[in-house]
Amino acid sequence: MARLTALLLALLFALPVQAASPRTHYLLYCSGCHLVSGEGKHPNVPTLHSELGRMLSVPEMRSYLVQIPGAAQAPINDEELTAVINWVLLQWNSDTLPADFRPYKADEVSEARSHILADPLRYRSTYWKALDQ
Ligand code: HEC
Repeated sequence: MARLTALLLALLFALPVQAASPRTHYLLYCSGCHLVSGEGKHPNVPTLHSELGRMLSVPEMRSYLVQIPGAAQAPINDEELTAVINWVLLQWNSDTLPADFRPYKADEVSEARSHILADPLRYRSTYWKALDQ
């Protein structure tokens, strides 16, 4: 048994370390609520299609996308969350992104997610608009 365990461990460490794709992280940590399609579940879970791209025309909404609890608290590191949010934007919001959109960088995601929004809906309605409009 000990020999088998040692063999398995040796095999495990011999495998190349391969980072999971943003899509895989999305499926694991976001799709439970936002669905595989990203369309959310009306009225409680918002869609991740189109509107996020429009929101980015308002500077205060840039940090919001990674400060909302579902994103900020996902058990993935800053680089991985950065890749997920950029993937969501390019996948489902490419038509609505501002022309000068720059992909998120890990250091700004790190800073933003350290200030989780206690009341995301209030922040959203202050800088953007209420969810059901
Ligand atoms: C447990 C359910 C849940 C999970 C898991 C979750 N979310 Fe959310 N998400 C929500 C809810 C509910 C809202 C509405 C705001 C709120 O109440 O937090 C939301 C809002 C958002 C918004 C803002 C959308 C808008 O229109 O204001 C974004 C962006 C977002 N989530 C991205 C993500 C990403 C990326 C992940 C995965 C890393 C994720 N969420 C995981 C439930 C979830």
